[in-house]
Amino acid sequence: MGIDFDRIGRDQLPALLRVMPKAELHIHIEGSLEPELIFKLAERNGVKLAYPSVEALRAAYAFTDLQSFLDIYYAGASVLLKEQDFFDMAWAYFEKAAGENIVHAELFFDPQTHTERGVPIEAVILGLHHACRRAHAEFGISASLILCFLRHLSEDAALAVLEQALPYREYFIGVGLDSSERGHPPEKFARVFARCRELGLHVVAHAGEEGPPEYIRSALDVLKAERIDHGVRCVEDPALVQRLAAERVPLTVCPLSNVKLCVYPSLAEHQLPALLAAGLVATVNSDDPAYFGGYLNDNFVQTFAALPQLGAREAYQLARNSFEASFVDAAARAGWQHELDRVFSAAA
Ligand code: HPA
Ligand code: ZN
Repeated sequence: MGIDFDRIGRDQLPALLRVMPKAELHIHIEGSLEPELIFKLAERNGVKLAYPSVEALRAAYAFTDLQSFLDIYYAGASVLLKEQDFFDMAWAYFEKAAGENIVHAELFFDPQTHTERGVPIEAVILGLHHACRRAHAEFGISASLILCFLRHLSEDAALAVLEQALPYREYFIGVGLDSSERGHPPEKFARVFARCRELGLHVVAHAGEEGPPEYIRSALDVLKAERIDHGVRCVEDPALVQRLAAERVPLTVCPLSNVKLCVYPSLAEHQLPALLAAGLVATVNSDDPAYFGGYLNDNFVQTFAALPQLGAREAYQLARNSFEASFVDAAARAGWQHELDRVFSAAA
């Protein structure tokens, strides 16, 4: 399409990364719950927190691995009780997303984190759904929901929550698999994912964040995942990288998350440049932005600042990949890609 990427200087990159239209495909909406909102909801709902103040809670956000994060993340989610709470949480995210030129978002939510505490699944799904509807009406953001099963719980528990969610089937487009990865391989959820595919749901799965490349293979072969969330450990298996590239299986990569959870020692050592160079449909996402030190644009800007291999061409490719990887119709995708071309042509 004739964009001259070499004419775009490094000094232009931060502004361009922020202004370019993009889709976010890997955000746990419970991971967008900021400490201030946690305290507000705790007070509103009479929930006792283990931390005396916003500052004390934020100070606890020093993680050594995925599990050390999950323990605090589930504690934070304990303040969510009513439909209004789920609405308020998602609305706070959409207000940020609108300012980041996110034109499309696919939000993960963890119903079992709430139903296990006695929250009705209707409150979870309708609260989030109404926020998605309003984001479209007010900001023009297209938004959909992906229901995630908690992999540290049993497959029977996943099947049970799926049944509970089915009266609200029209409000979510797919299912995913999250929580503690090691020791909980994708094949543990073969039956529930088969049932979801029969129901016409899209299927994604976290794999290869902390778990080995074999988990990525079984997410593809057993679960038939259409996208892999994280997936960065594929680089340990060159044949797998080739397969992901050949089959154009997208990876939803989350750079700040990977550093905060010690998957990489620093952004400078992140493998995103290698994934792009191998021709993978890699995308950049925020995962749990309230916990990992930045929303989507901070992920882009900080990652590009740390990695000289990433320039305007890669910025364009990542935004384009986010549209290719999203579960939208061809017309919406083409419209956003056209706008992306316009923004880069104007910058060059
Ligand atoms: N990995 C697995 N489970 C999660 C994550 C993650 O990064 N964030 C929220 N639940
Ligand atoms: Zn995640």
